[in-house]
Amino acid sequence: MRIMARAQTSFVCQACGAVAAKWAGRCESCGGWNTIVEEAGGIPAGAGAKARSKGRPFALEDLKTADELPPRRVTGIAEFDRVCGGGLVPGSALLIGGDPGVGKSTLILQALASHAMQGGRAVYISGEEAMAQVRMRAARMGAEEASVALGSATCVEDILATLDSGPTPSVVAIDSIQTIWTSALDAAPGTIAQVRTASFDLVRYAKASGAALLLIGHVTKEGQIAGPKAVEHLVDAVLYFEGERGHHFRVLRAVKNRFGPTDEIGVFEMTGRGLVEVSNPSALFLGDRSGTAPGTAVFAGLEGTRPLLVEVQALVAPAGYGTPRRAVVGWDSGRLAMILAVLDSRAGVGLGSHDVYLNVAGGLKVSEPAADVAMTAALISAQSGEPLPGDWVFFGEISLSGAIRPAPQAELRLKEAAKLGFHVAVVPQGTKAEGAGLELKAVADVGDLVRLTGGVRQNRRGRGRIESDE
Ligand code: TYD
Ligand code: MG
Repeated sequence: MRIMARAQTSFVCQACGAVAAKWAGRCESCGGWNTIVEEAGGIPAGAGAKARSKGRPFALEDLKTADELPPRRVTGIAEFDRVCGGGLVPGSALLIGGDPGVGKSTLILQALASHAMQGGRAVYISGEEAMAQVRMRAARMGAEEASVALGSATCVEDILATLDSGPTPSVVAIDSIQTIWTSALDAAPGTIAQVRTASFDLVRYAKASGAALLLIGHVTKEGQIAGPKAVEHLVDAVLYFEGERGHHFRVLRAVKNRFGPTDEIGVFEMTGRGLVEVSNPSALFLGDRSGTAPGTAVFAGLEGTRPLLVEVQALVAPAGYGTPRRAVVGWDSGRLAMILAVLDSRAGVGLGSHDVYLNVAGGLKVSEPAADVAMTAALISAQSGEPLPGDWVFFGEISLSGAIRPAPQAELRLKEAAKLGFHVAVVPQGTKAEGAGLELKAVADVGDLVRLTGGVRQNRRGRGRIESDE
């Protein structure tokens, strides 16, 4: 590889991996600004630069597996194993992304320690921290007795030589891919070419040896792992570890998984002694529920196979001069704009001249369309200043026509709500849920929803401040 002409450089976008002929302020491929970096010797010259070798034929096989698949390797941390789809698949590679400081190293060290306690052979290579720092962290979470093999290295050739020299580990973690480099390239560590090549070598090692590989990757401020396209397609699963600053809990979410579901989440709480699994997240997210303040509604959501109840909070205030403000935390702002437009044109609830703030309590990110009804109920309640009853939950998707569409797994959502002491569920018309133990109030469209949530107030106070077209 070294023989490659040293003078050869290319301009590579660090966000999407696109190669440009010359430097530019803006990447033509992904539109990112200031993402193009000159990389030395990164990309081999175009096709035809090297004489082709004559191909060797290989045997094709049929779809039916001839040999039994090896069992998955569980770490013993149930929340982690579930997100992976029931443990780590031997020979697979998994990428764990997240903001710096969210707790990736803590999670992985804990998973390795737990795996080692169960007899697995775990290797942890840190390219960021010295051994003493890793040991200190292990001591902090009471895992110093676990037989995890530690190493501090950044050169991929060194790492592979080390791994090859001993018995094959069952799980190897690399913390983080941004620090790993290969001597085959002249590009600086952390550049796309380095990250891609080093990750590729590690993934190939995993496939050949049968070790399960965990790659840790930092997310850049644009919300992407540096070189995401370069690494995401190399690995079998991509997990994101998320958490809001100032909140203690963390959510592990699968965004790609060749061997399991992608909608599963694992919930953890960051404590002074490492991460603690949260097996009943609804109770946590509703824990500090502010009772029945106006503008709050409880969404009966679903994350993967697990129901999850969260409180959504809305604040609506007359705007001052200029364009009204819209701010959303934990939900999609485009979705809020759509809901406001639907409320305006289908139910006559105009919030066009109001500032609107929306927040999902506890720092959780909600991505399910079925959250629409809960968000809308919170908005209506915020607008009127009248609280919704505290024992109601909401779910359902709102379409542009104003119709409320059914949501999957209604029964699961309702059972969780009943378990947590809710009595009434506002659900899309046609929702079938026998034996869920809640009173169902079916709504067919946003007009129904406005009338229903407005009706609650009118029964109590005899007035309603929402202007509805009825
Ligand atoms: P870390 O795992 O280093 O984050 P990452 O690898 O994603 O950059 O964790 C960082 C934070 O977690 C750090 O601010 C300290 C905190 N922390 C705890 O609160 N409790 C603990 O037991 C540990 C190990 C870390
Ligand atoms: Mg770290």
